[in-house]
Amino acid sequence: ITTRETPIIIIGSGYGGAVSALRLCEVGKKVVMLEMGLNWEKSGIPFSSMLKPGKSSAWLKKKTIAPFMNIFSLTPFTGALDRMNFEHINIWVGRGVGGGSLVNGGMAVTPKQSYFKEVFPDLDAEKFYTTYFPLVHQELKVNVIGEQFLKECPYYQFTRVGEEEAHKAGFKTIRVPNVYDFQYMEKEYRNEVPRSALNMEVIYGNNHGKNSLDKTYLKKALETGNLEILDLHRVEDIQLNHDKTYTLNVRETDTSGAVISDKVFQCKKLILAAGTMGTLKLLLHSNAVNQFPVHEQIGKNWGNNGNFMTGRNWVKPLSGGTGSKQSTIPVGGIDNWDDAEHPFFTEIAPLPMGMDVATALYLLINRVDKKGEVSYHVGTQDLHLDWTPENTVKMKQNADYFVKKMNKANGGTRSHFLFHNGFGADVCYHPLGGCVLGKATNEFGKLRDHENLYVLDGSLIPGTIGVNPFMTITAIAEYCIENLIRQNEFA
Ligand code: FDA
Repeated sequence: ITTRETPIIIIGSGYGGAVSALRLCEVGKKVVMLEMGLNWEKSGIPFSSMLKPGKSSAWLKKKTIAPFMNIFSLTPFTGALDRMNFEHINIWVGRGVGGGSLVNGGMAVTPKQSYFKEVFPDLDAEKFYTTYFPLVHQELKVNVIGEQFLKECPYYQFTRVGEEEAHKAGFKTIRVPNVYDFQYMEKEYRNEVPRSALNMEVIYGNNHGKNSLDKTYLKKALETGNLEILDLHRVEDIQLNHDKTYTLNVRETDTSGAVISDKVFQCKKLILAAGTMGTLKLLLHSNAVNQFPVHEQIGKNWGNNGNFMTGRNWVKPLSGGTGSKQSTIPVGGIDNWDDAEHPFFTEIAPLPMGMDVATALYLLINRVDKKGEVSYHVGTQDLHLDWTPENTVKMKQNADYFVKKMNKANGGTRSHFLFHNGFGADVCYHPLGGCVLGKATNEFGKLRDHENLYVLDGSLIPGTIGVNPFMTITAIAEYCIENLIRQNEFA
């Protein structure tokens, strides 16, 4: 095994990794990025739709892993969507160059300033709302659906019905921005271009329309000529050397998951951007196998961002119900944060199944009053998550309140079709925390007890942000990397 020496390595190509890469490359730094997933764009392999799951639909699994209806068998392939199963919660993540941006719904939501202040009391909220959020809004190409199109397009009947019903029940709705290009979607609708959002593509990747990170931050970073991305390279563990550099044991695989070669990389500066669960796994596993130093705050303040799914069925489909045609891109939400007793946000979520299932789906985002903790289990050599139904008691009360109020005003029943008892407490798309900014790290993401190690991803956010998280992850990464560069950390 030969050792490759390189000054700066970033592990992971999601939001935190992509931001760090661009800003370092812009100031002339050479960066190597290691990503365990596939470079889909370069491979030329198309993403699968939800009707016909194929190569991109699951990370090395024999069956699909969608939140519902996993009736499809698969040949194991390094797909774009992965799921980690814990006792009381399943966590979905993206795999591939672009991380979660490949598989997510693209909802680009800026948190309420008051909540941001509560979650990050030490940050200058004013600066975030005048500088970093507008910056990431521009870089991520965030846009909003045209109201006329929304009103007319049959693929948004689920949103129109969802909003009407919410208003009837006395809830306030909001329009939700997205990184999916709505100009493109209007052309899809007119059949001028190939369809993606209107063709059941999203959680296994979008072939068109979505401005995922490979089309924004990573593209710009590659254009500097300073970034090298090595896909299908999984970092197994990290060692701290006497001279405070890092050695990484890396495994290169093919698309069936078979090992091509084991490699060793050595770097002066290391940025962990492997996503909340990936970063925690690397730190805690390296601690177990290599006595890698980890601060006592690592693993603490973990949360599911209050994710709680629920649904409603109509006995008799209401005015055509949500319809058989559904865009995969959500554009509506219910904002109930001002209700002191039941504060939550909920996405009016699509449920594109190719037929009318007379079901409305909601992903609630609640406060996380009781945080969980991530540790390492030596026996299984995997993460252990301290998270039980106790952590979601209040979330369940909110979901129950919401569904009852909606049903009272509009008819319908709690959906047993999608979830046992109608509640999906175990569905998590937004794992956050475990390396909290200012606790496990310094004020700019540099890990405590280390001189050359940084964390820049969702694990910096203490378990909750009140809305879908990638805008905040991106803004925090921009803030941290700007300050780290200014402090000459990468000189
Ligand atoms: P992210 O998870 O994006 O990237 C980490 C990368 O590191 C991955 O590519 C992974 O393969 C790689 N990696 C991990 N371990 C590694 C190792 N050991 N070696 C090499 N590489 C490694 N959010 C939102 O704001 N709006 C939305 O609409 C949605 N919708 C949504 C739907 C679904 C289905 C999911 C699964 C998630 C969402 N999200 C979302 C959540 C959002 O996608 C998520 O919060 C971010 O992608 C997290 O960004 P990070 O930078 O933390 O890591």
